[in-house]
Amino acid sequence: MLTDTHCHLFKEYFSDLDKVIKDANDVGVMRFISASDNLKSIDEMIDLSYKYDNVYIAIGIHPENCEEDLRELEKVLESNKSNKKIVAIGEIGLDYYYGKETRDRQLEVFDYQLSLAEKYNLPVVIHSREATLDTINCLKNHNVRGVIHCFSGSKETAFEYIKMGFYIGVGGVMTFKNSKLDETIKELPLDRIVLETDSPYLTPEPFRKYSNEPKYIRTIAEYLSRIKNIDISEVEKVTENSVSEIFFI
Ligand code: NI
Repeated sequence: MLTDTHCHLFKEYFSDLDKVIKDANDVGVMRFISASDNLKSIDEMIDLSYKYDNVYIAIGIHPENCEEDLRELEKVLESNKSNKKIVAIGEIGLDYYYGKETRDRQLEVFDYQLSLAEKYNLPVVIHSREATLDTINCLKNHNVRGVIHCFSGSKETAFEYIKMGFYIGVGGVMTFKNSKLDETIKELPLDRIVLETDSPYLTPEPFRKYSNEPKYIRTIAEYLSRIKNIDISEVEKVTENSVSEIFFI
């Protein structure tokens, strides 16, 4: 069994979600953590958590949407306290590739959401692009753990996150021919890696011409087993164990 620890199962991307889930189940991808990126998608994800037994959700405001009202987010968390399908705050973080000019607001929103994670005792799913130093500094101000989603940094950065108790989320980018990311991932301990698609983005090779779907977690797991030169059953066992440790599912 495998879990897609990070996907965006939004209606605007997937018109037939029943089929997407069935196609994933058919290749042993049995659980999904669907991450929101703004207030509207949070509502949609909450509906989804009731509709599908095996869809868990992360709720949070992505740095690209940092102008949204944070009090609304806290209201949603408070009124959904009994919803056990909310397994993380995410995806949250800092993006200086797209939003350098909103840096101050991003930092404020990130910090606030890290406080919410502490308050509600939830792990975090972190988006960090061209913002490693600020990300690490913010995380150090809080007692939080979770996943560095779509990790693409250096080996040293990965080990810094691991030392802080974080897990490294790996997906399609690792399979891209010129990414060189596989050389870094190969060096990381398997028990600190979790698998993710980030569907509908970043489809792994050799399927890049298609939109990404959770079923490609199988492709990602196979790729990881090849670069680490281990059996796929080992990848399944160890990454599933990490999923339980992080998200309590
Ligand atoms: Ni994402």
